[in-house]
Amino acid sequence: MSNVDTFRVAVLAGDGIGPEVMSEALRVLGAVAEKFAISYQIKEERVGGCAIDADGVALPEHTLQTCKESDAILFGSVGGPKWESLPPQQQPERAALLALRKTFALYANLRPAICLPELTHASPVRESIVAGGFDVLFVRELTGGLYFGEPKYMKHESGEWFAVDTMIYWESEIERIAHVAFQAAMRRRQHVTSIDKANVLQNGILWRQTVDRVANEYPDVKLRHLYVDNAAMQLIRNPKGFDVILAENLFGDILSDELAMIAGSLGMLPSASLGISKGDGCYFGMYEPSGGTAPDIAGMGIANPIAQILSAAMMLRYSAGREDAAQAVETAVQRVIRSGLRTKDIHTEGTQLVSTADMGKAVVEAL
Ligand code: IPM
Ligand code: MG
Repeated sequence: MSNVDTFRVAVLAGDGIGPEVMSEALRVLGAVAEKFAISYQIKEERVGGCAIDADGVALPEHTLQTCKESDAILFGSVGGPKWESLPPQQQPERAALLALRKTFALYANLRPAICLPELTHASPVRESIVAGGFDVLFVRELTGGLYFGEPKYMKHESGEWFAVDTMIYWESEIERIAHVAFQAAMRRRQHVTSIDKANVLQNGILWRQTVDRVANEYPDVKLRHLYVDNAAMQLIRNPKGFDVILAENLFGDILSDELAMIAGSLGMLPSASLGISKGDGCYFGMYEPSGGTAPDIAGMGIANPIAQILSAAMMLRYSAGREDAAQAVETAVQRVIRSGLRTKDIHTEGTQLVSTADMGKAVVEAL
C-alpha cells in the first residue's frame, strides 16, 4: 500500500455477469474493511463492451487514469457477442485486458485451481481421479511470448494472405517468472513442474536451461520438466500429481483452462496478475475471476460470485499485504460450501440452491 491509511482499488466490473458478481465481492470487502480495520478507496470505472458503447473504446482514458492512481485493479470480465464483430484490435479482450497487462507489466499470472472435496462431482473427470479434491497453482508468464512478440502482422502476397506472430523470450523474463513459481512452491509442497516444447522450439531450450539455473537457488524444491503435449495428458490423468505448474504465456493460457475444467466450476476460480514487487512485499496487481462474461446467464442473478470474491481475497494478500484478511475470506468461502449452499453451476441434489446475492451474503455472515 503506497498510502499507509487507504488502500486504493480501481473496480472494473465490465460486461455480462461482471457487475453482479462484483457487487458480491464489494459486499465482502465492505465486511472485511470493518472486521480488519482496512480502509479502502473504491473507484468504479467502465471497461470492455460497456465502455465501447458509452465512451467509444474498451479502455477509456479516465479508466486507465484511475488504475494508475490505484494500488490494485479488481476486474470483472469483458466481452460478449455484441462486440465480437469489431476489428480484433478494438475488441474488449485485446483492447482492455491485454492492454492493461502490458501497461502495468503484469508478468506473473497466478491461477490457483482448487477442487474442494465437496465439489469433485462438478468435475467432468472420473471420480477416482479427483476424489478428495486437489490444490494446484498455475503460474503463467503473462507479458511475453507469442502474445506480444514483434513483428506481428497479416499481409497479402502472391495472391494469398499470410500471418506472422513472433515467439520471443529473454532470459530475464524467464528468470523472473521462474522465481515466482519457486517461491510459491517453497510455501506449498515444494514441487515445480515446468512446461516447454524444448524438443522443437529454441524458446523451449532457453526456457528449460534458464529454469534449471534458477532451480539451483531453491535446493528444497523438486523440479520436473514436461513437454507441453505430455503435460496436457498428465494433467487429466493425475491432477493430484502437480503442485506448482510453470508455463510461458500461450501454453499457460491453454493448460490453465484445461486445469480449471478438471477442477470443476470455473465460477470458483480466482486469478492474480502481478507486476514487479514494490519492495514492501506488496505488488501492483489485477485480480479477476477465471471464467468469462457468461452472457447466457447475465442479469439473472444465478452466477457464482465465489471466483470474484476469492479474487478480492488474492488482492488483499498480494496488493494490500493483508494475509490475515485474505485467509479469513478464503476460510469463509470454504465454510459456506461445507454448509451446503450452492449456486446453480455447482448445485446437486441434497444441497441448497442459492442466488448470486445470497451466496455473497452467506460469505459475509461466515466472516
Ligand atoms: C485468459 C484469456 C485471455 C488470454 C484472452 C481473453 C485474451 O483467455 O486470460 O486466459 O488469452 O490471455
Ligand atoms: Mg485463457
